[in-house]
Amino acid sequence: MNTVLVTGATGTVGSALIPALQARGAAVRAMTRGRSVDGAETVVADLQDPAAVASALKGVDAVFLNSPSAPDAAELQIQFANLARDAGVSRFVLLSQYAARADSPVRFLRWHAEVEAHVEKIGLDYTVLRPNLYLQALRSFSATIAQGFFAAPIGDAAVSAIDTRDISDAAAAVLTSGGHTGRTYTLTGPRAVTHSQIAEALSAATGRDIAFHDAPAEQFAAALTGFLPPWQVEGLIEDYAHYARGEAAEVHTAVADLTGHPARDVTDFARDYAADFAA
Ligand SMILES: NC(=O)c1ccc[n+]([C@@H]2O[C@H](COP(=O)([O-])OP(=O)(O)OC[C@H]3O[C@@H](n4cnc5c(N)ncnc54)[C@H](OP(=O)(O)O)[C@@H]3O)[C@@H](O)[C@H]2O)c1
Repeated sequence: MNTVLVTGATGTVGSALIPALQARGAAVRAMTRGRSVDGAETVVADLQDPAAVASALKGVDAVFLNSPSAPDAAELQIQFANLARDAGVSRFVLLSQYAARADSPVRFLRWHAEVEAHVEKIGLDYTVLRPNLYLQALRSFSATIAQGFFAAPIGDAAVSAIDTRDISDAAAAVLTSGGHTGRTYTLTGPRAVTHSQIAEALSAATGRDIAFHDAPAEQFAAALTGFLPPWQVEGLIEDYAHYARGEAAEVHTAVADLTGHPARDVTDFARDYAADFAA
């Protein structure tokens, strides 16, 4: 049985990836910074600690790399990739982001592109997953949604946002089957939706009136300031400007191609997560 090391194992994608891998017959080693993960071997390692990471990598066949966006994310992910190569890992799956590009005006996309470029050149058997905006990220609006609205600087631009459960399912497929070496898969939902359409789906699922308000970037930034560090507020403004320019609206078939099931629609997400958007 192949052993897969899952980083970010307590995170949105990682937590659903563990059962998806187990359903495909893989043994999972969950890497966390301390919390234990039910039903899987847990290994404690911080990406900042190369000795602990090297120890976590011992004896694994495949790796899923996911860390939060942060100014040191590229550096830590590159260090992790080098350690995985040194450990002789035979498959390396990197979680990146839709439209990662070295010259992107969005810092998160530049950071991801830097890691992708490194992974490509160090001789790993690698695959890149580039998911679009997470539908689950809408949960960060739950405080105002409880009051009946959410606001973001996106206007009526559509985004082919994805349910993170489909990212986990696609990652599980890539980690447990062949033919993915050197491939980059862009992962999207089954259609591009505007934030007003998302509001309609949430309204239908919760039975409440939930409105979407377009907000100027300055107002959005002001609402986040104090809750998030400046680099993250600035990065989110860049992300939303990219969405608002209509640059994240392409629909790709990779989820269905890899998993054998259609990508979940925003209406599926709204139904399954309705409790998170209660008044
Ligand atoms: N949100 C979106 O819409 C979106 C879209 C496309 C791509 N992405 C990408 O998805 C990735 C994950 O973002 P997310 O915000 O959804 O986070 P997440 O995966 O839900 O959570 C981050 C995970 O990383 C772990 N972690 C944090 N710092 C760590 C460290 N120093 N060493 C080891 N593990 C650490 C956390 O573990 P603990 O339990 O220890 O905190 C947690 O499991 C980012 O690269 C982001 O660019 C996000």
